[in-house]
Amino acid sequence: MLTTPRLALVPVTAAHGDAIWRATEASLSELKPWMPWAEEASPTAQADFAARAERAWQTSEGWPFAVSYGDEVCGVIGIDDPDRLTSRAEIGYWIRSDLAGSGLMTEAASAVIAFAFDELGFHRLELHAAPGNHASRRVAEKLGFQEEGLLRDGSRGSGGFHDAIVYGLLATDPRPSFHVPDRTEG
Ligand SMILES: CC(C)(COP(=O)(O)OP(=O)(O)OC[C@H]1O[C@@H](n2cnc3c(N)ncnc32)[C@H](O)[C@@H]1OP(=O)(O)O)[C@@H](O)C(=O)NCCC(=O)NCCS
Repeated sequence: MLTTPRLALVPVTAAHGDAIWRATEASLSELKPWMPWAEEASPTAQADFAARAERAWQTSEGWPFAVSYGDEVCGVIGIDDPDRLTSRAEIGYWIRSDLAGSGLMTEAASAVIAFAFDELGFHRLELHAAPGNHASRRVAEKLGFQEEGLLRDGSRGSGGFHDAIVYGLLATDPRPSFHVPDRTEG
């Protein structure tokens, strides 16, 4: 389990399926443009995701965390798609729409990045964000990722294929500090 000033991050297990679906359902219109899985999201699909996530932890194929704010699961952040030969992996995330814009995912990602570099031992993390996904691009920038290139039609959302900007962060790069509001700031 990882903790940050406002959040608790626990490894996703099959038991998280319902809670992840509730947060998903409340965020579908914001998720659909960018997340390839969101168009087909359903209680069953999120239960399947949670079961796969639990297995991924067991086999070291991925490290998805359920993000909790107070007592409620409000999103997912994970390290996925690891390549041990090149010591790289990818980070991905989403948060329930009513909580967006308060710095929560930057806070969560900062803890997960430290986990990926310091505990899992990766050398390079990649983050892919669509050119039009300004919130996600801003998260990448706040975390110190560098924009490195463009994958043409590199991802898919409700509008069809879209380009994906590749951001990279190395274990040796500086990790910027950023303001984390205290609990009373909201
Ligand atoms: C991307 C996402 C995870 C960001 O989570 P969050 O908790 O809102 O992130 P933060 O509050 O830490 O940072 C968001 C930043 O984007 C900015 N932002 C939000 N919407 C924006 C917009 N439309 N245009 C420009 N900037 C925007 C915020 O102002 C903030 O920057 P700031 O701290 O400089 O003010 C969330 O918006 C989300 O879940 N989106 C849908 C799923 C998704 O796109 N996932 C990522 C796929 S790559």
